[in-house]
Amino acid sequence: MQIATSMTTGGRSIPWVAVLASLSVLSSVTGFQTAVRPTARNAGGRSNRANPTSSPDGSSSTGLAAASTDFGGMLGDKVASAIVGSPIYPLLVRQAKGTMKKSAEDIGVDWDAEVARLRDAQDWDAALAGLLETSSVEVPDYYKKPFHAYADGNLCWEAAWEQHLASKAVGFRNFPEDAERGEYLLRKGYEAQMERLGVLVEDGGLVVDLGCGSGTSTRYLAEQFPSAGKVVGVDLSPYMLLTGRFMQQEDENADPRVELEYGDAARTGLEDNSASLVSLSLVVHELSTEGRRSILAEAFRILRPGGSVSIMEMDPSAPGYIKLRNNPMLFSILRSTEPYLDVYFSEAGNIDAELQEAGFTTVRKSGVTGRHMAVVGVKGGTFDLRADFKQREKDDTHLQTHRADVWVKTR
Ligand SMILES: C[S@@+](CC[C@H](N)C(=O)[O-])C[C@H]1O[C@@H](n2cnc3c(N)ncnc32)[C@H](O)[C@@H]1O
Repeated sequence: MQIATSMTTGGRSIPWVAVLASLSVLSSVTGFQTAVRPTARNAGGRSNRANPTSSPDGSSSTGLAAASTDFGGMLGDKVASAIVGSPIYPLLVRQAKGTMKKSAEDIGVDWDAEVARLRDAQDWDAALAGLLETSSVEVPDYYKKPFHAYADGNLCWEAAWEQHLASKAVGFRNFPEDAERGEYLLRKGYEAQMERLGVLVEDGGLVVDLGCGSGTSTRYLAEQFPSAGKVVGVDLSPYMLLTGRFMQQEDENADPRVELEYGDAARTGLEDNSASLVSLSLVVHELSTEGRRSILAEAFRILRPGGSVSIMEMDPSAPGYIKLRNNPMLFSILRSTEPYLDVYFSEAGNIDAELQEAGFTTVRKSGVTGRHMAVVGVKGGTFDLRADFKQREKDDTHLQTHRADVWVKTR
C-alpha cells in the first residue's frame, strides 16, 4: 500500500508534515468552536492580507465582507475539503476531541465517568424511538453534515452526552484564569450584555432558546428571568433533547418552567407574537445561509411587538478571529469540524443588516468576551408591561374623588 506524503489542493501540494505541524498549534477544534486561543505561534505569524483596514496598532475596522473575500472560499475551502477527504482526517478528529477533553479534565471534570454515567442511565434507544414516533420533524440537509469531531454531527448520543462537558471546556478556554468558573462567566457575560442591550421580559412572559442543545443555555435563561412564565428550549437533535430532558428529570432543583422541545428552530410551531425573548446561544455559526435566514424570520414571527431576539456568537471582527482567518492551515482545520464556519465568518458581519431585513428595528451589539459578541434586535411595537385591566383596577387604592372633595371642603 502506498501512503500519500502530501495532499493536493488548488494545484498546490501541501506535505502532511505541514498539516501535522499545524495541529500542534491548534488549541481546540471541537465543540462550540469558540475555544481557539491565539498563541504566539498561531496568532501573528502570517501576513495581514485578509485584514486590509487594520491600523498600525493592530486594531481593525474590518467589515466581515473584507475579511472574508481574501481567504474564505478560496484556498481555505480547498484545503478544508482536502483535509476532510484525506487519511489524516480521523487523526485530526481524535486530536480535536482529545484537546477539548483535556481542557475539561484540567479543571476537574471527569469526562469519561460522566459520559459512562449517562450512557448507563436509561434505555436511550427506547427513549429515542418513543420521541421519533410522536414527532414529524423534517431535518434540513445542512444539519446532516458531520459537525465537531463527530461523524454523525449533532445526531448521535456521544455528541449529546458530551455537550455540557465541552461547554465547560469552552468556558475555561475563554477565562483561563478562572478555571472551572469560566463557563459561568461566559454565560453571565451574555446575560449582562442582554440586559445592557435592553432585553426585557415581562412577568409571565415566554422565553425561547433556539438551538438549546442539552439545555445548558435554557437553564441559564430560566435563572436570568425568574418571573418569566415559561422558558422553552428547541433543538433539532433528538439526542441532545433527550439528554437535556434526562438531566432535568434527575435534577431535584430543576426549574419546572423549563420545557425542552424537539424541532427545527425555523419551524417552532409556537404562536405568532407569543414570545418576549428569543435567544440563540452559539448556534448561528452552525447554520447555512438559508437556515440562518429562516430561523431569524421565525424568531420575528413568534416574538411579540417590543420583544427581542438575542444572539451570542463568535465575533468575526475580534482580533483573535481575524488572525485565525489569516492562518489558512489552522482555519482550514477548524473548518473541517465546523462545516459552516466559513459561511459564518463571511456573512455574520452583516447580521445587523439581516436582522433589519427580517423586520427588527433597533439592533444593538456589544462584546461578551474578547472573542464573543451579543447582538440584540427588537421587534418594533409597544411592549406593554402594565397588568391587565382587572388587576390595575384592584391595584387602584386612589381615594374616591368625591371623598377627596368632601375632605378638602370640610378641612
Ligand atoms: C453549539 S450548540 C449550542 C447549545 C446551547 N445553545 C448552548 O449555548 O450551550 C448548537 C446547537 O444548535 C442546534 N441546532 C443547529 N441547527 C438547528 C436548527 N435548525 N434547529 C434547532 N436546533 C439547531 C444543534 O443541534 C446544537 O445543539
